[in-house]
Amino acid sequence: MSFSRNSARAVKQALRAPSVAKRSIALAARQQVALNAAVQPQVARNVLGAVRGVKQLKFADDVETVYERADWPLEKLQDYFKNDTLAMIGYGSQGHGQSLNARDNGLKVIVGVREGGESWKQAQEDGWVPGETLFGIDEAINKGTIIMNLLSDAAQSTTWKHIEPLITKGKTLYFAHGFSVVYKEDTGVIPPKDVDVILVAPKGSGRTVRTLFQEGRGINSSIAVWQDVTGKAKEKAVALGIAVGSGYCYETTFEKEVYSDLYGERGVLMGGIQGMFRAQYQVLRENGHSPSEAFNETVEEATQSLFPLIGKYGMDYMYAACSTTARRGALDWAPKFEKANLPVFRDLYKSVRDGTETRRSLEFNNRPNYRELYDKELAEIDAQEIWRAGKTVRALRPDSKEQI
Ligand SMILES: NC(=O)c1ccc[n+]([C@@H]2O[C@H](COP(=O)([O-])OP(=O)(O)OC[C@H]3O[C@@H](n4cnc5c(N)ncnc54)[C@H](OP(=O)(O)O)[C@@H]3O)[C@@H](O)[C@H]2O)c1
Repeated sequence: MSFSRNSARAVKQALRAPSVAKRSIALAARQQVALNAAVQPQVARNVLGAVRGVKQLKFADDVETVYERADWPLEKLQDYFKNDTLAMIGYGSQGHGQSLNARDNGLKVIVGVREGGESWKQAQEDGWVPGETLFGIDEAINKGTIIMNLLSDAAQSTTWKHIEPLITKGKTLYFAHGFSVVYKEDTGVIPPKDVDVILVAPKGSGRTVRTLFQEGRGINSSIAVWQDVTGKAKEKAVALGIAVGSGYCYETTFEKEVYSDLYGERGVLMGGIQGMFRAQYQVLRENGHSPSEAFNETVEEATQSLFPLIGKYGMDYMYAACSTTARRGALDWAPKFEKANLPVFRDLYKSVRDGTETRRSLEFNNRPNYRELYDKELAEIDAQEIWRAGKTVRALRPDSKEQI
């Protein structure tokens, strides 16, 4: 695709396109207000900004409920959790991001991880103090009122028999993924009957949870309730979602969260995109293209130029910003890729639903040497020609700090 060669034309189109985008945004906003006025008069006032509150918004043709941070100013949040201690169990990427955000929001947070492990070290580097705010797992659970089980999904299963008796009546059990309880036949995680069980699943890595919060923004999160003993479980899930750094909380169920999440990460988000990148690169190389050309045309242009445009304004905007030559070809080939991929996605969803993916994940991630095994697989990716070529291309970016 000749985006860079035609950059002048593309820039002109891109300059033209915002007005198209603005027009469609204005139109969408008017349609939204009309819809809300018809469906829910009180919500129409929300959209107009007169009343704050839960929003019911139209996503494509469906109306869904969304909760926003603006409804939880800091004082309200701190007051809501004034009698609570949030016990963050596990300090992987989510534990790190969520606990630091909640601490910065002025809530009482402690961290519980196994002593002497990687996380114990990392937590101390982030300012958690042994005996004050950093404890072994059992002690943290005993001290906490809201038990945030952010161990790895595999560890949630292997530690459950030990942890379960510590989660006593009156505590709240919190997860960042529906995995453990939805696949309870495989994981053995069956929560006690007398505690609220809720979920806040940020739609991004824990590192992003932290950086967006530090930038004054917020990540989108899914929230759900598995068990509501107090009648307050949903409200608590929303409040915790905001406390750990979400900007917007989208309501779902544990099942829907875990099915879509396992499916998405195996598909377009990670596995699918890696497979597409490699296949496209390989054919270019088979046809005599140099590594730099194959990489630029496959990964660099996608991640640096076109995907951000899709992210910012949508697929039609990306098309509008490209040459008519590119547009014609992509429009013709998109249905072919869709048709070729559909059976793979259907197989994948089935494999998620029937628990195959869960069992595979538990089996692999429970191996004592799982970290080394992953290191080995990732080192193999790093050694692939496409990603070695990528290192040089990235180093040539004007703002790069990478060494060639
Ligand atoms: N990462 C994401 O992008 C993401 C996004 C949304 C939701 N989630 C969910 O958030 C949860 C946590 O995920 P994560 O990525 O933050 O963490 P992770 O890397 O999967 O897990 C790391 C934590 O688990 C601990 N751990 C592993 N095996 C253990 C064992 N046998 N006994 C005790 N502790 C053990 C590690 O402690 P040591 O350092 O001591 O080994 C570390 O604190 C999961 O439910 C995940 O599905 C993750």
